[in-house]
Amino acid sequence: MRKIIIAIDGYSACGKSTTALEVARVLNYRYIDSGAMYRAVTLYFLDKHVALTNPREVSRALQEIKVSFVVNSKGISEVFLNGINVEKEIRKMRISENVSQVSTIREVRLAMVEQQRRMGKDCGVVMDGRDIGTVVFPQAELKIFLTADMLVRAFRRQKELLQHDDLVDIDTIIENLQQRDSIDSNRAESPLRKADDAIGIDTTHITIDEQVDEVVRLALAKMILQPKPKA
Ligand code: DC
Repeated sequence: MRKIIIAIDGYSACGKSTTALEVARVLNYRYIDSGAMYRAVTLYFLDKHVALTNPREVSRALQEIKVSFVVNSKGISEVFLNGINVEKEIRKMRISENVSQVSTIREVRLAMVEQQRRMGKDCGVVMDGRDIGTVVFPQAELKIFLTADMLVRAFRRQKELLQHDDLVDIDTIIENLQQRDSIDSNRAESPLRKADDAIGIDTTHITIDEQVDEVVRLALAKMILQPKPKA
């Protein structure tokens, strides 16, 4: 069967990563969490006190950063920053509070997009993020755009943070999500938006299993029905 690229975009905490990870497992595809890459860069910038408004300093710092993914013994892909597993650290609130700002920086986006395209060049990839269907892989065979009501998103994020021993009250989470939605959607460089050919799925009232089934069904249809592009 033909291998395709599946792009899953949408707002924070709509279930993108959970869906993408499970779809990749079902199809035996590679899963790439592009948000984790921006989070790893943010962790480095914060720890090294990189001045975000200084393009030269940002570019120099980017040259010192290597972000990679390693699949652990449970088959889950974890993010490494310069060889160190930062999977837990990048999910913390201090990173969520700064990542959208870091993601607006042109130099950061250019570096990440280049790396993401390299990772997806052999197809058989599920990548989630904000600009995957619009900028990273505009040629992706399947594009999904996830949405959900704010309160549902906030409770999902709170549960996820608790799994990392980070207890955060719901109002703080809502404020953070609203702020990130606004920065992600209004930035000059590749703002978050639904690609014209993306299929929208509202995840407010459906389970993760239902989300996954729907994306897998759409993917199989593309893999079986779509003719190979002419050489
Ligand atoms: O998916 P996430 O919440 O882990 O993403 C963290 C931030 O990274 C998000 O607020 C915006 C940014 N991001 C981006 O700008 N482009 C992507 N493709 C993925 C994430």
